Amino acid sequence: MVKTTVSLIKADVGSLAGHTVVPEPLFKVARKKMAEAKEAGLINSFYVFNAGDDLELLMTHFKGESSEEIHALAWDTFTAAADKAKKLKLYGAGQDLLVDAFSGNVRGMGPGVAEMEFEERRSDPMVIYAADKTEPAAYNYLLYKIFADPFNTAGLVIDPRMVSGYKFEVFDAYESKSVVLKTPEESYSLIALLGTTERYMVSKIWRASDDEIAATASTTKLALIAGTYVGKDDPVCMVRGQSGFPAMGEITAPFLHTYLVAGWMRGSHWGPFMPVGLKNSMCTMFDGPPRIVALGVQISDGKLASDDDGKPMIADIFEDLAFDLARREALDLASHLRRMGEFEPARLGPGAMEYTTLPQVLKSLESRFKKV
Ligand code: F6R
Ligand code: MG
Ligand code: MG
Repeated sequence: MVKTTVSLIKADVGSLAGHTVVPEPLFKVARKKMAEAKEAGLINSFYVFNAGDDLELLMTHFKGESSEEIHALAWDTFTAAADKAKKLKLYGAGQDLLVDAFSGNVRGMGPGVAEMEFEERRSDPMVIYAADKTEPAAYNYLLYKIFADPFNTAGLVIDPRMVSGYKFEVFDAYESKSVVLKTPEESYSLIALLGTTERYMVSKIWRASDDEIAATASTTKLALIAGTYVGKDDPVCMVRGQSGFPAMGEITAPFLHTYLVAGWMRGSHWGPFMPVGLKNSMCTMFDGPPRIVALGVQISDGKLASDDDGKPMIADIFEDLAFDLARREALDLASHLRRMGEFEPARLGPGAMEYTTLPQVLKSLESRFKKV
C-alpha cells in the first residue's frame, strides 16, 4: 500500500511589529505557492498557519521523508515570503534562511522540520504542535508525559495495545548523535537525558510492540548551526493518536498545567509555556510568554481530511476553555519570574543564553579583578 507522508516545515521569515506575529500578506504568498504545488500534483493537501512569528507549512504528499522536491518547495515558499517581508520592511525579514542557496534538504539550513511517513490506518487522527520563543527540548517533558507517564496516559495501564510501551530516539545536539531508549524499562535513564534540556531532545517515538511511528519533533538548534545568535528554534512536533496510540485527550492532557521552557525574551529566560488557540498565536508580553498551538487533524487518503469545499478541517484544540487553567498558571508564573529581572533562575545560565554581555563585562573589568 502507498504510504502517506506528513511534513511540517517552518521558518521565521519576518514578522509584524518586531517578533510578534506573521501578518496576512506573508500567509497569502505561502498559500499561493502551496496551492500551485497542489495543482501541479506535488503535494496532496496543505494548511498554512503561524506560531507567533513563525510561518508553518503543513503538507501531505506521497514523496516520503526528506524529499528533495518537498524541501525545495518549502525553501522556495519561505524565500518568496521573505522577499515580501523585505519589501514591506517587516522585522527580521529572512532571518531563518541561513544560507543563500538551497542544497537538497532544508535541515541544517535554518528551517525546522518534522516529518513522518506511514501506512494509513482505517482512520488516522494526529495532533500537530507548533511553538514560538522556545527550543526543541521544550517537547521533552510533553512527550515523556504523553508516551511514558501512566499518570497522564491511562492507556499505558489499561489499553492492552499500549502496555508494551514506546521507544524514544534521543538526539544529542552537542555531539550530533542519537540513542534509542525503551519505556517503561528504561524510564529513569530516559528522564536523566530528557531532563537535560540544553543538550538532549526527543526526535522520534515508536510503539514498541510493532515499531509503528508514533511521534516526531524538530531538532534544529539554530545557534549551533550559525555559531551565533539567530533567534530561538521555535520547534514543531506531530503525534499520532487513538487505536493503540495515546488518545487525543491524553496527547493534550499535559497542558492541564503550564511548565517552564527556555527561550522567551532574547532567547535567554525561563518562561511558562502557554497553550493558545490560533487567534492568540502571537508573542507579546516580554516577547512571550512562549506559546504553543495544537491542531487536531485527520489524515485521509493522502490528504488532510477536508470539507466539501476542499478546505482542510482543523480542530484548534487549545482554543478550548479546558486550557484556561494552564493559561492562568502561565501568567501567574510569568509575573513571579519577571520580578527577578536578570537574576538566575529567571535568566538562563551563561552557557544557554542567546544574548549576553558577560564576556564584554569580564574583559572590561579584567585589570580591576584582584587575586584573593
Ligand atoms: C527571541 C526573539 C526576541 C528577540 C528580541 C530582541 O527568540 O526573537 O525575543 O530576541 O525581541 O530582538 P532584536 O535583537 O532583533 O532587537
Ligand atoms: Mg522573529
Ligand atoms: Mg519565532
